This record gives sequence, structure tokens and C-alpha cells, in this order.
Amino acid sequence: METGKMGINIKEIKTQDLNPQDFIKQQIREISSVVGDGLAINALSGGVDSSVVTMLGHKALNNRLKTYFIENGLMRQGEPQRVAASFKKLGVSVEIVDARQQFFSALKGITDPEEKREAITQTFYKDVFGKLVKTSGAKYLLQGTIYTDVEETVAGVKRQHNILTQLGIDTQELYGYKVIEPLIQLRKPGVRDVAKALGLPADIYERPPFPGPALSARVIGEVTPERIEIVRPATAIVEEELCNTGAFQYLAILHEDKVTGVREGRRDYGFQIEIRCWESKDATVASPTRLPYEVLEKLAERITKEIPGVVSVTYNIAKKPPSTIEAI
Ligand code: XMP
Repeated sequence: METGKMGINIKEIKTQDLNPQDFIKQQIREISSVVGDGLAINALSGGVDSSVVTMLGHKALNNRLKTYFIENGLMRQGEPQRVAASFKKLGVSVEIVDARQQFFSALKGITDPEEKREAITQTFYKDVFGKLVKTSGAKYLLQGTIYTDVEETVAGVKRQHNILTQLGIDTQELYGYKVIEPLIQLRKPGVRDVAKALGLPADIYERPPFPGPALSARVIGEVTPERIEIVRPATAIVEEELCNTGAFQYLAILHEDKVTGVREGRRDYGFQIEIRCWESKDATVASPTRLPYEVLEKLAERITKEIPGVVSVTYNIAKKPPSTIEAI
């Protein structure tokens, strides 16, 4: 999709100009007035953006907002249950929707990054949400698109999966519902300030970003359940080992090519995992964290020992640009 020539007609609220309490009041008013006495749905992934939208939506609509966790088979270890349990504590009930089959069949055979994003977009918005709005009777979908998502898509860097109206897509006509985006004027640091002001716990507002296409953004080449089962435990190890670095984001990527390794004295043609760990403010530019060598060694040791078939572990040392944070 040609996006490079489009402009952005959204007014950014700079973090230093943001008054979180006023913003919360204004968004609650706005959501209430748009939805009226109707129903809305939203998908919660557990990231800071969708968590903030969930809280704003519930404050505005109470039980006229139905919140779902879409289990697309691409999420991190234990995530659906963890997210549902932590929102239960906040008084929000979350229904887990098993859509694994739909996502893996949509991704079958696709290797091109933008085609993967398109497959995910269609499965989310058309198949999964399309069905949920029909069964629930909702007319609105609330989602946590932020300013940077629009900016990257419009600049033609990557089409973020959640960008629709800004690309001229009429969701009402295509999918049967309207989209409400309360966070569209904010960047990540602003969203974190709103999360804090909403009383969300630190493990939510301090959580590193995680992409909408989830682990499929970290598999180079075809995304299959088997390949996700390699990148998922690698992600868990990287998150365990790097969570105290204070870095902006850290991740594991599964490469498409296999390489020769040796295990127990025999040739082992196996998988390559690449680790990335970033210093950044809002993901537009980023530099690799200067991790101590012992930390890198421990990562390599754990990943090759704990994940069957992995024989190579590398660390990305290129900055963004020209690299990007995710691999696809
Ligand atoms: P990149 O890889 O473009 O990532 O440097 C910038 C930030 O955006 C996240 N990201 C995505 N988030 N849908 C999303 O919701 C996407 O398709 C997507 N691609 C990247 C990424 O994790 C980073 O924080």
C-alpha cells in the first residue's frame, strides 16, 4: 500500500502539555457521547495502550463495553490467563476468545512482512471482530492506536496493523462497526502517564511495548505454530534476563535460514535466534543497549540449552535507522 505521500491530520498532544486527569475526563465524556446508550467492544492485549483504553472505556460505559482477549496463538507465554486475571483484580471481566486456528490459517504460506500484517489485520478486523460485533450487538470498537503508529504508517515505514481510518478505510462499510481511538493524539510516554493517573499497576504502565502482530513480527519467513513455539520460549528467556536493564524494549527473533552447528560431537543443522535490546524514547529512533558480555553469554547459553534445535544466538548492534525495532 502506498502510504508515503499521505499527511497526518491529527493534532499531537506533546507529553509536556498533557494533563492526564483532564485528558481522562475528556476522553470519558467523548466515548460516552459517541456510543450513547449503545454497546461497544474492545480487545485487550495487556499492553499499556489497550489497558488504558479498556479502563477509559469501562469508566465511560461500564458493562456496555465488552472486553475480549483475542488468543491468536501469537502471544507470549501464559499471557491470556495473566492478563484476564490482572484485570479481574481491577474489576474488569475479560473474555478469552480462541482464534488460533483462524490466525494460523491466514498466515499459512506468507513470508512477506507487509502481507503478514495484512493477513493479521483482516483476521482481526473482519473475521474476529466482525463476528464479535454481530453476536454482541455492538456498533463500536474501541482501540488503542497511538500517534506514533499513524506516523510510521503514513511515512511508509511499516503499516501498523491497527491503522484503518487514517488510510481511508471505511470500517463501517467493510466490517460493520465504527472505530473509536481515544489515544490517537498521544505518544507512548503520554500513554504511560495516563495509565498511572488511571491507577493501573506499575507492571502495566512500565511494560515495554509489544507489537500488535505479536510474535509474528518476530518470525522471519513463514509463521507456523511450530516456529512460534521456538520464538515464544526465546522471548520468555530474553524478558527474564533483561527485565532489569531499564531498556525501552528487548526481544528475540527467529531467523528464516538455518545454520550448521555441532551438538554432542555431531553436526546439527539448526535455528538462529537474534536478540535485540533497545534504548529509545518513543521508538522512532533507537540504539542497541551496551549489554555486559556476561549477560549476552548467559542468554546464548540458556537459549541454546533450553530450546531444542537452536544452535546460534546473535545480538543486533545496528541502530534504528536503518534497522527497525522489530524484524519484520
Ligand atoms: P519498528 O519495528 O517499526 O517498531 O521500529 C516501532 C514500535 O512499534 C512496534 N511495532 C508495532 N506495533 N503493530 C503494532 O501495534 C505493528 O505492526 C508493529 N510493528 C512494530 C514495535 O514493537 C516498536 O515498539
